[in-house]
Amino acid sequence: MPDTRRLDDQVAIVTGAAQGIGKGIALVLAGAGARVVIGDIQDASGTVDEIRAGGGHALSVLMDTSRPDDDEALVDTSLKEFGRLDILVNNAAIDAPKGTVWDLPDAEWERTIAVNLSGVFYCSRAALKPMLEAGKGAIVNISSQSARLGAKGMSPAYNASKAGVLGLTMAFSAQVAEKGVRVNAVMPGLVESRDFGWSAEEREARAAEYPLGLGTPNDIGEAILYLVSPASRWVSGTAMHITGGYQRGSSFF
Ligand SMILES: NC(=O)c1ccc[n+]([C@@H]2O[C@H](COP(=O)([O-])OP(=O)(O)OC[C@H]3O[C@@H](n4cnc5c(N)ncnc54)[C@H](O)[C@@H]3O)[C@@H](O)[C@H]2O)c1
Repeated sequence: MPDTRRLDDQVAIVTGAAQGIGKGIALVLAGAGARVVIGDIQDASGTVDEIRAGGGHALSVLMDTSRPDDDEALVDTSLKEFGRLDILVNNAAIDAPKGTVWDLPDAEWERTIAVNLSGVFYCSRAALKPMLEAGKGAIVNISSQSARLGAKGMSPAYNASKAGVLGLTMAFSAQVAEKGVRVNAVMPGLVESRDFGWSAEEREARAAEYPLGLGTPNDIGEAILYLVSPASRWVSGTAMHITGGYQRGSSFF
């Protein structure tokens, strides 16, 4: 029986994979056999080196997802260097400072929407060209639990951008699923993707809300692997909650 979670011969773009969740996703996809193209605003050679050290194939491009030309160039690089594009994971995003609704600066609102929402649109639009030509492809967008919970402790711009990502996911799926391209989202809860500077007490208080503990970048990578692999061939236009069993509102989310 074929292993439906293998991605041999496939090429995947992962944005924002220099660190954190994106890096976890890139490592899991590479481990499943995909060649990985990373687009990040910072140097992602650490992730590329790790994939190559494991016998995989990867390269990275310095870019800004909020710039349509950069997204086109990222897709072109994938086609030129690896000859194809099968998978896009829109992971790059910024955490806006914890602004309040009534005094959120215009610049913060605009930059957050530009990167977290417009970036997903531009990069998906660029990737769709070769995918629609091939009549197949898989796109996964990283939303967040904050899209539905409001997340008082996070910027309204961030929360709104992540809700917008869900809308884009459904709109893209509605128009391209019949053409062979599947589009889905994931909505993670709290993932310890880097050092958040918490005290031991703060970390414990947050972890206490998650029956399965805090998430890791690898946990998100494994969920993405399902959504981009042949195992999910009948799945499009959905948003997967990945929350470690979290069910209530908390002070953070
Ligand atoms: N960490 C969490 O708890 C959590 C929860 C839910 C959703 N998410 C989402 O998961 C994704 C990754 O989160 P993370 O915690 O790993 O974040 P992170 O800040 O650690 O990593 C984000 C990556 O995106 C890159 N990036 C930022 N702006 C960019 C731009 N304009 N163009 C290209 N690259 C850019 C950064 O350089 C970085 O490598 C984000 O979409 C985030 O909103 C995170």
